[in-house]
Amino acid sequence: MLIAIDGPAASGKGTLARRLARHFNVPHLDTGLLYRATAAGVIDKGYRLEDGAQAASIARGLALVDFDEERLRSREMGEAASVVAAIPEVREALIEAQRRFAARPGGAVLDGRDIGTVICPEAPVKIFVTASPETRAQRRALELAGRGEKVDFAAVLEDIKKRDARDAGRSAAPLRAAADAVTLDTTLLDVEAAFAAALRIVQEKAAPTHG
Ligand code: DC
Repeated sequence: MLIAIDGPAASGKGTLARRLARHFNVPHLDTGLLYRATAAGVIDKGYRLEDGAQAASIARGLALVDFDEERLRSREMGEAASVVAAIPEVREALIEAQRRFAARPGGAVLDGRDIGTVICPEAPVKIFVTASPETRAQRRALELAGRGEKVDFAAVLEDIKKRDARDAGRSAAPLRAAADAVTLDTTLLDVEAAFAAALRIVQEKAAPTHG
């Protein structure tokens, strides 16, 4: 069971991916963490975020385990990740590790921006998770507040819109739904309802009924 989940920032794709992975008892890779960890490495070394050669070298050296999620999930790191993620060499450096993860014999769930389009176009189940920018900003503000960050809703909404524009507007693997992805709009859904809807999509794709 290989499931590819894509969508914009704070669409709920991470929560869905984790729930689906637990449900099907397969490993989950949050690929955003790879870009966040790359950005953190670039910042720690004092390089510029736009320095493609250095960022790609840091990306190549990443291990897929032991991320300092507390730090990586900050607002600052989301922004920085979106900048390094637009660099083609960085994306190239991270492709193989993601594909290896996706090729695990028992299956896997991966979530990101280009999983269905670039990393695993062969995945039998592709879900494009979306929600209105205002709903996503509300969720992100709650999450950041829960982690003790000071939040200003207008600034979070601004961030979300900026990140959408950068992630969808870049030329290297821009955020978009694969042609055969099913779109799941979670604007009006709580976590349970979104999970139930995702499960229906997976079941339909995995065992299509003909006729
Ligand atoms: O999903 P996230 O918010 O943790 O992702 C952080 C940034 O990383 C996001 O703004 C764009 C980038 N990203 C990407 O370009 N491709 C992915 N597969 C995952 C994340």
